Amino acid sequence: MALTETTGTRVLHVIATPRGLASNTGRVTSCLLEALRDDEDGLEIDTLDLFRADLPSVAGKNIETKYRLMTGQAPDEDARESWGQIEKTIDQFLAADVYLLTVPMWNLGIPYVLKYYIDAIVQPGYLFRYTPEGLVEPLVNGKKMIVVLSSGSEYATEPMRSFDFAEPYLRAIFGFVGITDVTVFRAGGMDVSPDYRKAGQRAAIEEARAFVRSGAWRPASAPASVTAARVPGGAPLRSRSRSRRAVEAGATSAQVLVA
Ligand SMILES: Cc1cc2nc3c(=O)[nH]c(=O)nc-3n(C[C@H](O)[C@H](O)[C@H](O)COP(=O)(O)O)c2cc1C
Repeated sequence: MALTETTGTRVLHVIATPRGLASNTGRVTSCLLEALRDDEDGLEIDTLDLFRADLPSVAGKNIETKYRLMTGQAPDEDARESWGQIEKTIDQFLAADVYLLTVPMWNLGIPYVLKYYIDAIVQPGYLFRYTPEGLVEPLVNGKKMIVVLSSGSEYATEPMRSFDFAEPYLRAIFGFVGITDVTVFRAGGMDVSPDYRKAGQRAAIEEARAFVRSGAWRPASAPASVTAARVPGGAPLRSRSRSRRAVEAGATSAQVLVA
């Protein structure tokens, strides 16, 4: 569902399990969503179910466009249509004030669809940009992120903690583009036993509800704050979207060195 003009807080719910909201992670998210709706009547929720979504290509013309943008060149004319799909996906991302991610751990990391989505939206000139010194400057400001992350085993303590690449990765990549206010609710031990699973879900649900009650999920600024989306090398590829009209660059977050 596309978002329309609204005065409510806009939540983009990104689902990265193929098992829907009846899944281990989804059960926690469902309660969290209910609490959010209770907390704000006008809440706008845009749902992106990654296993059902038709995500744009990150190969062919789009990968060449990415490299052109990274070196400050304008995209090729014949890439316009294809790159428009990437921009559409980025626009949907930037239209949100708050992100809610429903993520199971897969092989110590995140499911491939979520990595694919990240590869599609983390684009130079849109979510980050390079400075002339070769540093990376994040371009996403004032957003909050809530992650519900479930796993078959527990990763709360060592030695398991050091095998968890899911939470550190999500914090790193979204921090890289400027989303540093990230709250993670973990439901561990989902595959240990039915009782263990229920207890883990219950604990995560309680934590999430308390978090919503505290009001800490709300973005500090007014809703619909949007961030930069400017293509290096000049002219936009298509008519400027709401997100692109709103701000041109101006990131203030700390710079980080390009790896
Ligand atoms: C392909 C795949 C890989 C998985 N890898 C891990 C893993 O590395 N560590 C772990 O603790 N659980 C792993 N699991 C178990 C899931 O993380 C766990 O069952 C989770 O709660 C599933 O959430 P869902 O029902 O919302 O999809 C894996 C499950 C699948 C399907």
